[in-house]
Amino acid sequence: MAFIEINGGNQLSGEVNIQGSKNAVLPILAATVLVNGIIKLNNCPKILDVFHMIKILEAIGCTASWDNSSLIIDATRLNTSTVPEEYVKMMRSSIILMGALLGRTHSVTITYPGGCTIGARPIDFHLSAFQNMNVLLKEEDGLIKCSTDGVKGNDIFLKFPSVGATENIILAGVLADGKTGIINAAREPEITELCKFLNAAGARITGAGTERIEIMGVDYLHPMEYTACSDRIVAGTYLAAVAGAGGEAVLTGIGDENLKAVIKVLREMGCSIVSGEDYIIIASSGRAKPIPFIRTMPYPEFPTDMQSQIMSVLMTATGTSKIVEEIFEGRYQNVKEQIKFGADIRVKGREAIINGVPSLTGCEVFASELRGGAALVIAGLMAKGKTTLYNPYFIQRGYEDICRDLNQLGADIRMVT
Ligand code: UD1
Repeated sequence: MAFIEINGGNQLSGEVNIQGSKNAVLPILAATVLVNGIIKLNNCPKILDVFHMIKILEAIGCTASWDNSSLIIDATRLNTSTVPEEYVKMMRSSIILMGALLGRTHSVTITYPGGCTIGARPIDFHLSAFQNMNVLLKEEDGLIKCSTDGVKGNDIFLKFPSVGATENIILAGVLADGKTGIINAAREPEITELCKFLNAAGARITGAGTERIEIMGVDYLHPMEYTACSDRIVAGTYLAAVAGAGGEAVLTGIGDENLKAVIKVLREMGCSIVSGEDYIIIASSGRAKPIPFIRTMPYPEFPTDMQSQIMSVLMTATGTSKIVEEIFEGRYQNVKEQIKFGADIRVKGREAIINGVPSLTGCEVFASELRGGAALVIAGLMAKGKTTLYNPYFIQRGYEDICRDLNQLGADIRMVT
């Protein structure tokens, strides 16, 4: 059984380049299904979620091959619109293929994704949007079967700016008949990235990055080459690691543009941060100042995907902090592992109160989801002594090689297989 071993206490210093963005690349890979030809995607991260997405694409008739960090996908011979159950279970974000398959083949059959370790994660917004776009839905034996005689553009209002629903509607609307409007659309940078990709392939989308997106249906998308943006959450994780362990580091290949809310919190903690278009430099003396109130909200507010990592840093703050998790309440299940380091955290509903303790002690912990796992790595770096982290698989879903990157910053961390 693989595990990560960390000898904590080292300050971090050095330079690390940030990998391509998981949450940008996954919908872009789904979008390749809409293209009758070859897409070359540069800066594609080699992470488990991408490997799973490649398996799904291959299972429905696409071909995929790597050329260093570029992934080449050819969807010309797509031959089924049924997404194999095993992969939907493995990777919930495979539901993003629904919109793309509806656009390309006018049908899709997929297993109901069901529960998830970080909360219920329903897909009701996705399904009702499709229904409003002339798609017929049937649920049978745990399968969702969708079909249409042609996707039709319509105005869709989202009760909540769901990232996945916004992406699925965009993907369904690209080749639809007429205009689709999304009102209260998600504004995450990964939505903007998906729209940039689609527009570069011939789509007609306006308003990405705002709460109203319009998609004018086109007849086809053409083959092309595209370079994905870097991963703001991986960058945020490494900034949090330096904030917690202390030291000075330079992140390259990413700027501050999409990380403003995170950088604001890190500065309030006492970190000094200098940034430009494609670099971020952080310096931290170790113990953070407490933060009286952090609330996770849709972009551009503080991201839920950074909540657990920031909580780890606050575990040794010089006072009491409060976090309110508004997006995925299930993220707090990671707290039971975080307190093994000697942290003092009380959770009540969506609220967590973190009373900073002077120091943490290394221990044995179990990752049960991606960002929570990264938060345990940060706690291990901050703690005195040895930490053993089991289930590193969850971290590998989104981080190419967290041990390599943190080693580069001087951490004593290794993957034991
Ligand atoms: C995406 C990201 C994930 C991030 C999240 C929020 C990907 C692959 N994943 O997940 O990393 O944490 O955005 O920024 O990009 N909801 C409903 N009904 C729906 C859809 C969503 O009630 O049909 C609710 C969810 O339960 C949740 C909230 O809306 O409370 C936000 O979810 P959503 O934005 O859809 O997250 P994902 O797209 O799943």
